[in-house]
Parts: sequence; C-alpha cells; structure tokens
Amino acid sequence: MGTIRIAVINGPNLNLLGERETGVYGETDLGSINSAIESAAAQAGASVEFFQSNGEGEIIDYLHRVRDFDGIVINPGAYTHTSIAIRDAISAVRVPAVEVHLSNIHAREEFRRHSMTAPVCVGQVCGFGPYSYIAGLLAVVDHIKKMRQA
Ligand code: DQA
Repeated sequence: MGTIRIAVINGPNLNLLGERETGVYGETDLGSINSAIESAAAQAGASVEFFQSNGEGEIIDYLHRVRDFDGIVINPGAYTHTSIAIRDAISAVRVPAVEVHLSNIHAREEFRRHSMTAPVCVGQVCGFGPYSYIAGLLAVVDHIKKMRQA
C-alpha cells in the first residue's frame, strides 16, 4: 500500500505555456499548473513527480524510469498524434496512464483528432484547460485505489 506515486509528464512546447498561443492554451504557466496538481494530489493522498521534455526519446527514457510508479498523467503534446514509440513505451511500462490535453483536440484541426497514445491509456481528459490535469490526476488515483481493492 503506502502513498500513491504519480508521474506527471508534459511533452513538447508545454514549457512555454502562458506565452504560447494563449487564445488556445490560456495564460497559466506550467509551474502554476504543477502547483495546483501538487495540492490536489496531496488532498487525494498521492505524491507527484513532474517531468517536461521537448524530446521524444527523453520522454520514453523517463517513462522507463517511472515504471515502478503507481500511475501516470501525460500530456504528450504534438507527439500524441504521431508517436508510436511513446505509445509503445506507455504499453511497455504497464503503469496505468491518463492522457490529458488543455484544448479539446476533437474540436480542432482534423490531424489532432487522432491520438496514437489514448488507446493504451485508461482514458483521456481534454478541453478543460489546466483543470484537465486535475481531473486526469483524480481519475488515475481513483483507478489505482479501485485496483488495489480488487
Ligand atoms: C495539446 C494538444 C496538441 O494537439 C498540441 O500539439 C499541444 C497541446 C493540448 O494540451 O491541448 O502541444 O496536447
């Protein structure tokens, strides 16, 4: 049992949140989003570790490093739509993951509607801005608690 350990992973360009396409992604920077996640996690009895990278290989290496964690919240950014390698890494580590997006990827350009990674995740939360991360975190924690009871 013990504390539930969650890895929160952000992919390319998400380090520029707050200044990047604010009309789509809002004005909140990644540090503020991470602080909100940390508070929500503490209330839910979970601890979080944060990771952001613009590189596909670095994200894959990090996924391998957290393979003994209890859960993953991941916003793969544009790699969502292209990366078979990140999809395979999520599958390989067998840690329950929730995919999150600030924007509603289904309401945008056609190429954003398909996610390579969502099929190997427990579920996907998108369209709620920074709250997508909180909802994703609570969803994966709830999933882990239910798995532990089973
Ligand atoms: C995003 C959606 C992706 O299509 C895009 O490439 C991003 C951000 C989101 O959080 O809404 O970089 O993942």
